[in-house]
Amino acid sequence: MSRCRICGSSISPFMSFGRQPISNAFVMPEQFASEYFFELAPAFCTECHSFQIIDQPEAEQMFHGNYAYFASTSRYMCDHFKRFADDVSQRFLAGKADPFVVELGSNDGIMLRNFADAGVAHLGVEPSANVAQAARDRGVTTICEFFNDALAERIVAERGHADALLAANLMCHIPDLHSIAAGARRLLKPDGVMIFEDPYLGEMIAKTSYDQIYDEHVYIFSVASIRWLFDKHGMELFDVQPQITHGGSMRYFLAPKGSRPISPNVERQVAVERELGLHLPETYDRFRRNCEASRGELIALLTELKAQGKRVVGYGATAKGATAINYCGITPDLVEFISDVTPTKQGRFSPGAHIPVKPYDAFAADFPDYALLFAWNHKAEIMAKEEAYRAAGGQWIVYVPKVEVFS
Ligand code: TYD
Repeated sequence: MSRCRICGSSISPFMSFGRQPISNAFVMPEQFASEYFFELAPAFCTECHSFQIIDQPEAEQMFHGNYAYFASTSRYMCDHFKRFADDVSQRFLAGKADPFVVELGSNDGIMLRNFADAGVAHLGVEPSANVAQAARDRGVTTICEFFNDALAERIVAERGHADALLAANLMCHIPDLHSIAAGARRLLKPDGVMIFEDPYLGEMIAKTSYDQIYDEHVYIFSVASIRWLFDKHGMELFDVQPQITHGGSMRYFLAPKGSRPISPNVERQVAVERELGLHLPETYDRFRRNCEASRGELIALLTELKAQGKRVVGYGATAKGATAINYCGITPDLVEFISDVTPTKQGRFSPGAHIPVKPYDAFAADFPDYALLFAWNHKAEIMAKEEAYRAAGGQWIVYVPKVEVFS
């Protein structure tokens, strides 16, 4: 029995993904023996609606000067964050004198560079030094720290209150959300807004995308869970917008209580969540059975292809892939290597299973028979640019929403 991080109720895991490594820790052979593992087990709290993992490694184990993930590797994501920034400017900053925008977990500046380019006062808060530096190199003002209520107080003292506080794929990383919510309330102007997006629980359950569950994702949010949390901090959820990014996300719009009209989208989405049964323990039992079935099918397929002497290569050394690989028991025996465009991952080995990660050229120079798409959330972008692979007879394997081969 454990305690819910949000409301303190007792919670128990409904399944375990077994011992898992740090999902973005691409390792060298000399690090194999000292690799860090933890038990990855998710639970659902029926009191405050939060979906969370029971144990999470220390933040410093995951976010540091050698953080492997650079958000700007996807063209589509660059466009997505340009649209996000434009929406914020038009809907919430228009007509304001000297607006000030803060982003939490600003990574390599993929979103804030749009504000920087437009001459808008901004501040990125990013705890991983190498990606923070990449943002600064692009002209994005960035401090390298973890955000909390104390830092919010300092930002207010040094730079004033914010008109917009943004975050993408960040909030679900932070165990102490009360400190973030309190800090957000403190940082915002009375008419300010907080807008963030993260992978959405409804999509994860519907697609059996169990690989959204890994060390960094201490929570997978729903509208009900976000409303519950921020209500305790004088904040109100006034709109929600589904997003297709990261395999299905939700964008949440929050403001100090009573400061804005509430869109009917909020109640509508809460009703969708009840229909999906997100509040019911049996939904998570079914999810567990679906995960087990998916794992069985994927391993059976890879084993069969190996028996036929086919070459299978992974595409995209994603953090999500760490859960899929280690939960399913995918070994270098079944997947020869993983191709990835990120220099910080290349020449290293995937966490846990130690599948080599190679540059994209290794894939293009000698097409495999099958490419296992670990970056399934970028499927449209990748299919559009892999015409030559398709033309050469290459086949794709996906495992979300179900295990499937297509050409
Ligand atoms: P991503 O799906 O954004 O997420 P996460 O690591 O959070 O699960 O990671 C995409 C990875 O795939 C990243 O390492 C870059 C890589 N990638 C390619 O190698 N080629 C591509 O065309 C794209 C779009 C991504």
